[in-house]
Amino acid sequence: MDVAGAKRVTVIPTGAALGADVVGVDLLQRLDEATFKAVEAAWHEHLVLRFRGQRLDDPGLLAFARRFGELDKAPVHAGPEVEDPYPEITVMSNIKVGGRPIGNLGHYEAEWHTDMSYNEKCPIGSLLYALEVPLEGGDTGFSNMYAALETLPAELKRAIIGKQCKHDSSRNSAGELRKGFQDVTDPREAPGAVHPIIRTHPATRRNALFLGRRRNAYIVGLPLKESEDLLNKLWAHASNPGFAWYQKWKVGDLVMWDNRCTMHRRDAFDPAARRLMHRTQIKGDKPYFDPASVAA
Ligand code: SIN
Repeated sequence: MDVAGAKRVTVIPTGAALGADVVGVDLLQRLDEATFKAVEAAWHEHLVLRFRGQRLDDPGLLAFARRFGELDKAPVHAGPEVEDPYPEITVMSNIKVGGRPIGNLGHYEAEWHTDMSYNEKCPIGSLLYALEVPLEGGDTGFSNMYAALETLPAELKRAIIGKQCKHDSSRNSAGELRKGFQDVTDPREAPGAVHPIIRTHPATRRNALFLGRRRNAYIVGLPLKESEDLLNKLWAHASNPGFAWYQKWKVGDLVMWDNRCTMHRRDAFDPAARRLMHRTQIKGDKPYFDPASVAA
């Protein structure tokens, strides 16, 4: 489908619950305003966009990402402590140089999550660019949280209306304890931000299920057992493969996802293979629920 207002952009939906390819754009060139608006509209419609065959360097990736807003500084990462010319780039990689990892997450599986939901202000979206990929494995799955909310059984929807969830900050999406954090033994005591379980997307005005990540999550105000039972039911529903689409990476793929209405996960891959991705993320605000939003 050609997008109105932009001559050269074609958007091809994946056919799954989310995701589309955008073809006909070279992201190294600054997109004119009409083309940019068409890309942004496609992002709001499809939640995840893939641009294949790009040849981005870090300044090019950052320049495109900045069209969507201010960028977050990369969190402290595993790499050597050297002067960083691009502090908004996070390296995701299993590659080691001189025995030291150059990036985050290694070759491990990453569980379903939304980026940095344990912070008060959560990123709007993230962009991930593939520089080196393994022949097999390391696929990234994305899942549509509008659809998860819209299909939630009525009694579960009733149970979460007006409820808030604590998002644990002690572990990363591979389950590793972050530096400086204690192991959490009671989710009620976990460090991390509290957000509404139903959140309103400020641009589309649609509501989405906002779970963050499962481990050490806690629904504020409920006895722990009730919180665990409700979270287990919500996660069982949200993990339905029918809400998901998987990206099989090729070098030169740029994928951008909307953290306000999606979750993502990653398959593990052979530790002997090399995978090198550069990621940047767009700063966001405190998630909220607007009772006047489009009903789910
Ligand atoms: C992540 O951002 O959670 C990892 C995505 C990936 O490496 O594919």
